[in-house]
Amino acid sequence: MSASIIPRHQRSTGLKDFRFGAAYYPEHWSEHDRIDDLDRMLAAGINVIRMGEFAWRYLEPRPGTFDFTLFDETINLFGKNGIRTLFCTPTAAPPRWLTAGRDEWLRIDENGNRMCHGSRQHCCTNNKEFRVACRGITAALAEHYAKNPYIEGWQIDNEFFCHFSRCYCPSCVTSFRHWLAMRYGDIETLNQAWGNVFWGLDYDGFNQISLPYSKGRPAAPNPTHELDYCRFLSDAIIEFQKEQVTLLRSANPEWFVTHNGLFDLIDYWKFSEDLDFLSVDQYQGFSVNAADDSVWSAINCEKCRSATGSYLVMEQQAGAGGQKSYAHPTPAPGQMRLWTYQAVAHGADGVLHFRWRTCRFGAEQYWNGIIDHDNIPRRRFEEAVREGNELKRIGRHIVGTVLDAQVGVLVDTEQDNAHDTMEMGFSSPRDQSDLAFRDIWWRHLPCGFIQVSDRFDRAKCLIYPSMPIMDEALAEKLNTFVVAGGVLLVTARSAIRNRNNHVHAQTPPGYLSDLCGITVEESGRIEDGSLSISLDGTNLPSGNRYEILSPKSADVVGCWNPREDGSPASAAGRPAVTMHRWGKGCAVYVGTYLTDENVTAIMDLVIKQVDIAPLAECERAVELACRKAEGRRLVFVLNHYGVSRNICDLPTGLDLLTGQECRGALTLAPYDVAIIEEGEDRGRLGSDI
Ligand code: GAL
Ligand code: ZN
Repeated sequence: MSASIIPRHQRSTGLKDFRFGAAYYPEHWSEHDRIDDLDRMLAAGINVIRMGEFAWRYLEPRPGTFDFTLFDETINLFGKNGIRTLFCTPTAAPPRWLTAGRDEWLRIDENGNRMCHGSRQHCCTNNKEFRVACRGITAALAEHYAKNPYIEGWQIDNEFFCHFSRCYCPSCVTSFRHWLAMRYGDIETLNQAWGNVFWGLDYDGFNQISLPYSKGRPAAPNPTHELDYCRFLSDAIIEFQKEQVTLLRSANPEWFVTHNGLFDLIDYWKFSEDLDFLSVDQYQGFSVNAADDSVWSAINCEKCRSATGSYLVMEQQAGAGGQKSYAHPTPAPGQMRLWTYQAVAHGADGVLHFRWRTCRFGAEQYWNGIIDHDNIPRRRFEEAVREGNELKRIGRHIVGTVLDAQVGVLVDTEQDNAHDTMEMGFSSPRDQSDLAFRDIWWRHLPCGFIQVSDRFDRAKCLIYPSMPIMDEALAEKLNTFVVAGGVLLVTARSAIRNRNNHVHAQTPPGYLSDLCGITVEESGRIEDGSLSISLDGTNLPSGNRYEILSPKSADVVGCWNPREDGSPASAAGRPAVTMHRWGKGCAVYVGTYLTDENVTAIMDLVIKQVDIAPLAECERAVELACRKAEGRRLVFVLNHYGVSRNICDLPTGLDLLTGQECRGALTLAPYDVAIIEEGEDRGRLGSDI
């Protein structure tokens, strides 16, 4: 099968074996410490370490004077013992000598505050001189390490936009104007595209344009101006990254190049095109308190997978994290391993923990690594040893398989950004997709996120979550999907604007009207849950929007109930949910938002139309996911509960972790995992299990 017809979210990383590792900072430790570390890493089955992302100062101690000794020694010591290095370009932490006396390189926030030396990510990546310096250190590293046999790949910078994204420095103003000139060619075209006739905003030249302030100065900014600023920020960081990627690739085309995301505003679909694959950082401590919350980290993995296909977890939380103002709860015994397998279940071909040793100084001195401050290995180390040795044994069964995503929840950063420019208190595509995913995940159906620009042909069902922007091409792609037999759910306030972020002239849902078999007659804001929809004999609470649908060829399956106070009078008894048989498939339109209260009933209606079965029968936060390759399926069973759980209706196959045959049912201890391999080719990879 040629690459072009494989949906990107179904793409493999191409890595030949599973990577298990940790972030390592030789600059924090003595030579003696390194020897301890090496021995313990070998015991933990570690085969890769990541280093260098904050080490510019030690690689280039003085302008133009490089010193690679510490890193050469570390790379070679670990490399000779079978542990490869993933090196990073160190541009997230410029040395003091570089920024001293160069305040104009520093980022400025929306309120005019200039960032400073003292933490990280303080330099503006759109400053041309800073860019020269970044290319300089990258070129020096690329040249120095081009033939080093132990370096297998690179991470560019570190977590772009983690601390800072919207910059208002003079370099950003200039770059934005240039970006606009390239996009529109002449100022009249921009004036048209932005609808500048409104409030008489027309510009006479690109050099008159400033950056939009999200809070408005004084009133709300033009939504196209804002959306273009978001597009610019993403394109600019892509360009910054590409300069480094190009230097590395020209030094050694065998290296893989990646970056650790994921943060708002970056269009990772475009961003990933310059990389071999994208990676993700996973910090469950920011959200996972109860079993049900573990869907949060599944969603994070899915965001990465939808942009790139299979991926690496570049940083996986290894213990309780904390900085100046917060401290995470300590993961329970087994949870760290569980989180590793959760990422694997969604498509990780490698997991690196953050970090190997807990540092005794600096802003993250209480951020727990695998080894404690006192260098005594405790339960986190034991857990890492278990993970690493298991993955060493079963890793080759994993790489090359990809997630089976039969229900696809559509995602797109551009749509989220467009929503935010006119959010008006309404639910965003990202919130709608999270809600839909959560419900499907709890049903144990094979599901995942799919980017709107991807191919849809391997999915059976798609959720289109209130994405505002629609053009003919996207409508045609959705149409083809349904005509061929797909089931599509479209939620309220979808397809209402064009690529310029202007409202379409056609009655909503515009380009989707034929496909959905309806138009939206009237719509408006209401209080969350203040109206209800009568659907299949039950009353579904609304979100904070009502839409009165006018069916053309769709069947009405739900109507707005009247309200005691009669408001809005126009909605009572009128269509709210429709189903349109179209080609071999069907399109369901829901004239309100998904909410915690109504999502299950709405998804019941949708999923009933799909020929699909749960992967097993169990409690809802026992996570099920399936990775597959030709002739083989791996069913991951992850118990996110702190108590044992029974699972039944599983496939018959071999549990790769225990080596036991699973005959359709099993009991998992708290936070335990099973990976059942089934299919005619399952024995093909040997019997080392
Ligand atoms: C990530 C970052 C790491 C470290 C970690 C723990 O966001 O990439 O360098 O800061 O979080 O806070
Ligand atoms: Zn800037």
